Amino acid sequence: NWSMETFIDDTVAELKRQIGDKRVLCALSGGVDSSVVAALIHRAIGDQLTCMFVDHGLLRKGEADSVVRTFGDHFQMNLVKVDAQERFLSKLSGVSDPEQKRKIIGNEFIRVFEEEAEKLGKHHFLGQGTLYTDIVESGTDTAQTIKSHHNVGGLPEDMEMDLVEPVNTLFKDEVRKVGEELGLPKEIVWRQPFPGPGLGIRVIGEVTEEKLTIVRESDAILRDEIAKAGLDSEIWQYFTALPDFKSVGVMGDSRTYAYTVGIRAVTSIDGMTADWSRIPYDVLEAISNRIINEVDGVNRVVYDITSKPPATIEWE
Ligand code: XMP
Repeated sequence: NWSMETFIDDTVAELKRQIGDKRVLCALSGGVDSSVVAALIHRAIGDQLTCMFVDHGLLRKGEADSVVRTFGDHFQMNLVKVDAQERFLSKLSGVSDPEQKRKIIGNEFIRVFEEEAEKLGKHHFLGQGTLYTDIVESGTDTAQTIKSHHNVGGLPEDMEMDLVEPVNTLFKDEVRKVGEELGLPKEIVWRQPFPGPGLGIRVIGEVTEEKLTIVRESDAILRDEIAKAGLDSEIWQYFTALPDFKSVGVMGDSRTYAYTVGIRAVTSIDGMTADWSRIPYDVLEAISNRIINEVDGVNRVVYDITSKPPATIEWE
């Protein structure tokens, strides 16, 4: 018999009691869990909270701006934005193995976080967006054995900070309700699942700035067209991926040799199994035309019609 208003009031009171006059640090990822945690803690202790947002350059179009607008401008939180794109790109240079990329991104995230936290001085507490399901499912997630789910936002254990985990009794849908009640924007509250390593695993093979731009721009077009078609709430997860090959095409009188963009869209309950979405042909056509016309370096668009299993949702 869970009531959201009671939950927020009780949690804010408990946070005030637990934290007292000490300082709290939170890592924002742009996702709903860390956002709700930051908003709850901010409501309880205001300026004693500092939020850190590490921009690793692997986010989707507009996401970094949305974090700054929401937490810096709207909530007026103490927000530290770390621009670490160059750092992540150079660490990823020459690396094409998916698991290797996940490890590098996860480790680099922790390193950047630690370095920047050091500069900010002593924070007694670390706020984390652990959910109830993260606790009960840890160790039994079979997807974890297939791909190392190196969550960006997984933080070092030896930082000598006490954890504050105000949503660890909630399920995902409850976290979303709390987020709406706290005034977080829809784009954050209803964000589709997005992997910690971000676009780093949607660029297949070696990650370069050029390939990141193609996947980011084509993904923005896909999201735009899916929203226009009113399909965004019925498709569980949808994105573009960039395979590591070029193929021949023709444009006007000349031959082109350019990248292929893959569209992935699935319906699912929890990501463990998934079915490919039956997106109407005219919507697929609009997406394909726009990607070809608006994204440089692409001459072909394909649609992934594989379910999970045997495929996974992501291509890496
Ligand atoms: P797969 O590709 O394994 O994805 O079918 C299942 C769900 O997990 C997400 N995913 C990840 N999430 N770190 C994450 O935080 C990862 O390395 C990772 N790999 C996949 C994927 O987006 C889907 O929602």
